Amino acid sequence: MIKKYTDFDLSARNTFRMKVRCALYVEVTEEVGFPALDWAALPQPILVLGGGSNLLFTADYPGTVLHLAIRTAPQLHEEKPGEVLVTVGAGVVFDDFCAWAAGEGLWGPENLSLIPGECGASAVQNIGAYGVEVKDILADIRAWDRLESRFVHIAPASCAYGYRRSNFKTAWKGRYIITAVTYRLSRDPRPVLDYGGVRKALEEKGVSTYPEISGHPRPDKREGPAAEGSGRGRSEAEAISGYVLTPQLLRETIIGIRRAKLPDPAEVGSAGSFFCNPVISREHFHRIEAIARADNGPDYRVPHYDTPDGIKVPAAWMIDQCGFKGKRLGGAQVYQNQPLVIVNESGSATPEDILGLERQVIAAVSAKYAIILRPEVEHI
Ligand code: EPU
Repeated sequence: MIKKYTDFDLSARNTFRMKVRCALYVEVTEEVGFPALDWAALPQPILVLGGGSNLLFTADYPGTVLHLAIRTAPQLHEEKPGEVLVTVGAGVVFDDFCAWAAGEGLWGPENLSLIPGECGASAVQNIGAYGVEVKDILADIRAWDRLESRFVHIAPASCAYGYRRSNFKTAWKGRYIITAVTYRLSRDPRPVLDYGGVRKALEEKGVSTYPEISGHPRPDKREGPAAEGSGRGRSEAEAISGYVLTPQLLRETIIGIRRAKLPDPAEVGSAGSFFCNPVISREHFHRIEAIARADNGPDYRVPHYDTPDGIKVPAAWMIDQCGFKGKRLGGAQVYQNQPLVIVNESGSATPEDILGLERQVIAAVSAKYAIILRPEVEHI
């Protein structure tokens, strides 16, 4: 239930594989462990660790690392027409939950497939990919409130979710320890396809994405063998061209896209995207466009997305334009296929290598585009 280890090696507990140690490592496997835990007696400060996939240990940790390992399997506990609530232990690997949902024919997390980390962290970080953020499917968060020493339920609406942001990272930092997350999934198809080449990848596989384009069924086109699937979560409108778009098929497509771009965590250490994508004003964007056209020709188009807060320009593009793809410092490297990611290429990169490369990237982007990139990875 509660295991404790002193002077613990954290290299297998952070996906960057930094060889650092902590004074005390505590693993909690059941909720009942919390009321019994004497927080004041633990070496301070205390860091609550999930999958260790979104942080950079910059040095040995002087206090306690508390690893939450509550791995309660998905429990399907309420179903209204079209809506399914599923509660999962905070320590369940998020992609295991995605795989489970796809296997059940449930829509919701499929675009978030293969994101490293655990379910608890998904709600802290508001993880996102391919047009979906976890806030879109969160229904409830159960947590231990350290301030009031009791379990509470937190409504996602009160978490101030934004792009990779939440109250858990700011106003509430250190207060709540998430023990379970309830996701709102759906048996009715709700594919999100218009981001980052998802639709194109499906169509290259011969999967029709027609219902999303037209918004209404096209029964005349329904011909050929329908793929075998769970049968659930499938509308008649989707049986087109011999393929049926299922959460499983979308999950597999997303996994294919990610594998082509992002490092395999089993092979090389990283923490996924190292920087956030900046959101800038239209005027600033025009200045960037002018620089890009001077560099790449008058017809050059700068990749960007319009958001309610301004124009989001991919940091990967800026880092690429600054010539940093594949650049090394010590054992660290800017990843060749996706320069938003810094990898522990040698397996023995030090925190200083990563931090040095981070500084170089920030300085180069700032000098060229007058944008200070903000790290997405939390520095500990
Ligand atoms: N690009 C380049 N050169 C490159 C790679 C990319 O110019 O070498 C440009 C391209 O224009 C491309 C654009 O950057 O279209 C965006 O690249 P990508 O689609 O890979 O997405 P991203 O904005 O760099 C974000 C998330 C990822 C998520 C993808 C897909 C952040 C910080 N990162 O990356 O999340 O998987 O979108 O939705 O928002 C993570 O958080 O760890 C993560 C991997």
